Amino acid sequence: TFVVTDNCIKCKFTDCVPVCPVDAFHEGENFLAINPDVCIDCALCVPECPAEAIYQDTELPKEQNHYLKINADLSEIWPNITELKAAPADAEEWNGVANKLPMLEK
Ligand code: SF4
Ligand code: F3S
Repeated sequence: TFVVTDNCIKCKFTDCVPVCPVDAFHEGENFLAINPDVCIDCALCVPECPAEAIYQDTELPKEQNHYLKINADLSEIWPNITELKAAPADAEEWNGVANKLPMLEK
């Protein structure tokens, strides 16, 4: 599966969403999660993300390992998202800020 990681938080550009052939993305207030049971490992979403926040599970940096469970858990409870939408007005200011997990709104 592919995994959305820390840098998506408060960026949520959603460029990843429209390219997903199986609608694997789910939307929270300030983060997206991929449903691991739906993702077919096509990798199309990776180059779309301006925040470079998506990794294959096999290439997940160690410090992002907890995002495996975060994606699995949150994609279960959050609604599906299938279309591009406007990013938060301050998305670029948060792009690249480290350790945004405390700001993840569940
Ligand atoms: Fe969707 Fe492909 Fe990204 Fe998985 S890797 S979330 S199937 S676009
Ligand atoms: Fe997040 Fe990147 Fe998609 S910031 S919403 S994973 S385009």
